Amino acid sequence: MLFLALETSCDETAAAVFTDEPRILSNVVASQNELHARFHGVVPEIAARAHLRNLLPVIDEAIRQAGVQLSDIVCVAVHNCPGLVGALLIGVSAAKMLSVALEIPLVAVNHLASHIYACRLAAERDIFPCVGLVVSGGHTALFHCEDALTMKLLGGTRDDAAGEAFDKVASILGLGFPGGPALEREAVAGNPQAYKFPRSFVNEPRLEFSFSGLKTAVLYTIHGQNVARSQTPPSGQNRSDLAASFQQAVVDVLAAKCKLAIQQTGLKRLAVGGGVIANKALRSALEAMAQREGAELFIPPMNLCTDNAAMAALAVEKWRRGEFATLELDAEPNFL
Ligand code: KG4
Ligand code: ZN
Repeated sequence: MLFLALETSCDETAAAVFTDEPRILSNVVASQNELHARFHGVVPEIAARAHLRNLLPVIDEAIRQAGVQLSDIVCVAVHNCPGLVGALLIGVSAAKMLSVALEIPLVAVNHLASHIYACRLAAERDIFPCVGLVVSGGHTALFHCEDALTMKLLGGTRDDAAGEAFDKVASILGLGFPGGPALEREAVAGNPQAYKFPRSFVNEPRLEFSFSGLKTAVLYTIHGQNVARSQTPPSGQNRSDLAASFQQAVVDVLAAKCKLAIQQTGLKRLAVGGGVIANKALRSALEAMAQREGAELFIPPMNLCTDNAAMAALAVEKWRRGEFATLELDAEPNFL
């Protein structure tokens, strides 16, 4: 049985083909980084237009790389939530069109559930029940994942996502977009103790995040409170110290809240997805924390951490249960 899945929730246009095992046959991702770089962040209107241009060629490429025919596909899956609504709509419309044209069922998949399912795909064994952490440019949230399809939100961010904070602080420091990788490189030469930045809610027993105060603290540390955006960014050792101290604050908060989620739920497994887990300092901190807590840590390879359509292989579970979407399916910006 062959499945085709589409992902257009943010700024990656992606399509994947997988079997019902599930086994991934192709996983094609077209990045829009170059289009958004000069804005230092994803511009929703530009993202939607780029999906419109890129999606059909990306689907063709996924079918070609899998070595199959479109007519072999038995089910089409799509991430319909959460994400940028205009961006999601492109994938949802294309999936509906394929469902009608090929006379095959349509399955709607939650993008955040897919990020956790990427750990299951990579592990090639059951990882549920587990604590799930999604940490990306658009999301920072902890879940109690009963099984692949049943997840309860334990807590999310009140403002910026962790990746968004990396991107914004990178911009303040005069680094490129996406900011996460650039800031991590800058932090290598820096002292993580040089600046004592705030760690929101870190000593409180609630599973919530807030990163906007941290971002503002970095800004005020550099420019003072009467900041003008035209001021020159810091350079040299000071810039490295600022990057390292900011990164350490984010890592400390994420590790502390994952530990709290493990303790509060009693679950001894932590599955992590989203682009920010590329960060080596975060990986090391989570590995050390999981070891201390006697918990198993699941982190997929990078091509399954960042946005992709292969992680939507979760659709196979829905397909088995007969949970199909109708043509009424809509794009939903929020987590449902
Ligand atoms: O999951 P993803 O590819 O897209 C979504 O946002 O859904 O995540 C992208 C985010 C960006 O904010 C990027 O700056 C961040 O992940 N990121 C990193 C690193 N690599 C990517 N953040 C910190 N350190 C990194 N090495
Ligand atoms: Zn994502």
